[in-house]
Amino acid sequence: MKIFTTANELRQYLVQLKASGAAINLVPTMGALHQGHLSLIQEAQRRGGAVICSIFVNPKQFNDPKDLELYPRPILDDIKKLEQINCDILFNPAVSELYADNESWHLNIGELEGMLEGKFRPGHYQGVTHVVHKLFDLIKPDTAFFGQKDYQQFMVISHMVAEMNFPVNLVMCPIQREPDGLAMSSRNIHLTPDDRQHALILSKTLHWVKQNFNPNNIQRLKHDAEKAIRDEPGVELAYFEIADGDTLHSADNNTKKIVALVAAKVGKTRLIDNVLIG
Ligand code: PAJ
Repeated sequence: MKIFTTANELRQYLVQLKASGAAINLVPTMGALHQGHLSLIQEAQRRGGAVICSIFVNPKQFNDPKDLELYPRPILDDIKKLEQINCDILFNPAVSELYADNESWHLNIGELEGMLEGKFRPGHYQGVTHVVHKLFDLIKPDTAFFGQKDYQQFMVISHMVAEMNFPVNLVMCPIQREPDGLAMSSRNIHLTPDDRQHALILSKTLHWVKQNFNPNNIQRLKHDAEKAIRDEPGVELAYFEIADGDTLHSADNNTKKIVALVAAKVGKTRLIDNVLIG
C-alpha cells in the first residue's frame, strides 16, 4: 500500500494513476477502522480501479474539544487492516496539511444542516462538508463511498455535490453490525460492559419499528420507541425520528421512503443508528 501524508505527493501520484486510465475510488474516514469502514473499501474494490482510503480526524467537525481529544487514533493498527485487505493508497495528512491557519470559510447547505444531528451538534456538517470538499478537490475521485450509518451525512454530502457540481458518483453502503445488532462505530470502544448491553436498545427499537411499521400509526410508533429508549437505564435519548428519507422531515402516511433515526448518549458515549423502512 502506498502511504501519503502530503497533498502534493498524493496529487503527483494521482496524475500518473489517472493517466493509466484507472478509476479513482475514495473512502474518507477518521480512522480507528472497523468492519464498517472496511466494507466500504471492499465495495470500492468490487467496482474496480484504485482505492484510496483517507484517515483524517477532522477537528472542524467536532463541536466538543473533549470529544476530539478522546477520538481514537490507532494508526498502526489501521495501516495493518488496510494492508490486509489490499487497499491501494492511504492518505493520512496532518491537520496543517489540509487546513491553513485561521481558515474560516464554510459551505451552507441549507436546512439539512440544522436538523436532527445538526441541531445537537451545531457546525458539525459545516466541518464535514469543509473537509470532504477539500478531499474531493484534491483527489477528484470518480466515485466516493459513504456509510448509511451516517444517513444525514450522506444527504448533506449529496447536496454539496449537487450544488457544487462535483463530477463524483456517491455510493451509500449498508450498516455493518455486531452479531447482536449494535451498529459498528469507532466510538464503541468507549462503552463499558454495562453500556454495551444498554446500547442494544437502539438497534432493537429500530428493528421493532421496522417490523411493526404502519403508515397510519407513525405517531404511536414514535411515542412507543421513545418510551422504550427512555426506559433503558444509562441511556439518554437525544432524538428518535421517523422521517422522510429524502428530506428528513417527519414522515406522514403519504411518505414513500422512510427512515427511522436515533441518537442517544449511552453512559458517556454518543451513538447514532438508523434503519430504512419500505
Ligand atoms: P467515520 O466516522 O470514520 O466514518 C467513515 C465512513 O464509514 C462514513 O461514511 C461512515 O458512514 C462509515 N461507517 C461508519 N460506521 C459504519 C458501519 N457500521 N457500517 C457502514 N459504514 C460505516 O464519517 C466520517 O468518518 C467523517 O464524517 C468523514 C466523512 C470522514 C469526514 O470527516
